[in-house]
Amino acid sequence: MFPGRLASAAALVEARLADVIAAQGELPVHQAMGWATQGGKRLRAFLVMESAALHGVGPEHAIWPACAIEAMHGYSLVHDDMPCMDDDDLRRGLPTVHRKWDEATAVLAGDALQSLAFELVLAPACHPSAAVRAELALTLARAAGARGMVMGQALDIAAETAATPLTLDEITALQAGKTGALFEWSATAGAILGQADPEPVRAYARALGLAFQIADDILDIEGDAALVGKAVRKDAEAGKATFVSLLGLDGAKSRASELVTRACDVLSGYGDRADSLREAARFVISRET
Ligand code: IPE
Ligand code: IPE
Ligand code: MG
Ligand code: MG
Ligand code: MG
Repeated sequence: MFPGRLASAAALVEARLADVIAAQGELPVHQAMGWATQGGKRLRAFLVMESAALHGVGPEHAIWPACAIEAMHGYSLVHDDMPCMDDDDLRRGLPTVHRKWDEATAVLAGDALQSLAFELVLAPACHPSAAVRAELALTLARAAGARGMVMGQALDIAAETAATPLTLDEITALQAGKTGALFEWSATAGAILGQADPEPVRAYARALGLAFQIADDILDIEGDAALVGKAVRKDAEAGKATFVSLLGLDGAKSRASELVTRACDVLSGYGDRADSLREAARFVISRET
């Protein structure tokens, strides 16, 4: 159920994003935007589409925020990989944008992908109500910005040179921004589109996002670079503060599975209609990529 639904959300988003980006032009910056948004697991897009379906909203509307969040996520990865941040050469099994083009192109492609994300949620076809589109844009701005993803990235970079290791609460706050904010937005976007209470899916996504980042940190240690499509065993070397550095591998794994149990439980009000979201939560901690 989950693999098929993930694959169909991914195929829809892949095709739409490719069309939208092809229409931007043929400069290197446009090509780099396409490069940076191809492939990937499309988990955030899946969350948007699935949460929309749960709230009675079809793919013709959900595709807009689904593409928007993948554009935003793509921007965050292009900048995250740059020499001034994680300095990575490989992403999704391909050279990173600054390696294939140059740093200026990577900065600009990231910037343009972020603008594109807002353009997509504000497109009239996204939702007939301008108030709903504005709510999507406002919440997306908060999720991506200085109290969301950007804050998490800033704390992550600062932790590399901090005099004392972060505490569990500090790492939780860091990860909630760095990874959690975009996951949270993805799940709540479906409820916003359906003009429904976003709190249950928000609680689900909070737990899921944290479990997801713990799995990312575990993959950095145990993962196979050929499978994950990016360099591994870099976090410890860079002095990154992760759940693994604080709790150890076993502690991090049990923390992640507690979070998955919590994510599944908070959706009880939806009954079995939320089963594919529950499967997605189990997938994020068992994945090899
Ligand atoms: C990678 O995210 C960056 C993190 C927030 C850990 P994903 O593992 O979802 O990356 P893709 O989109 O599947 O490549
Ligand atoms: C990246 O986190 C998170 C964002 C881009 C917001 P990481 O630096 O851990 O992601 P990977 O491991 O490079 O994918
Ligand atoms: Mg990083
Ligand atoms: Mg990185
Ligand atoms: Mg990582």
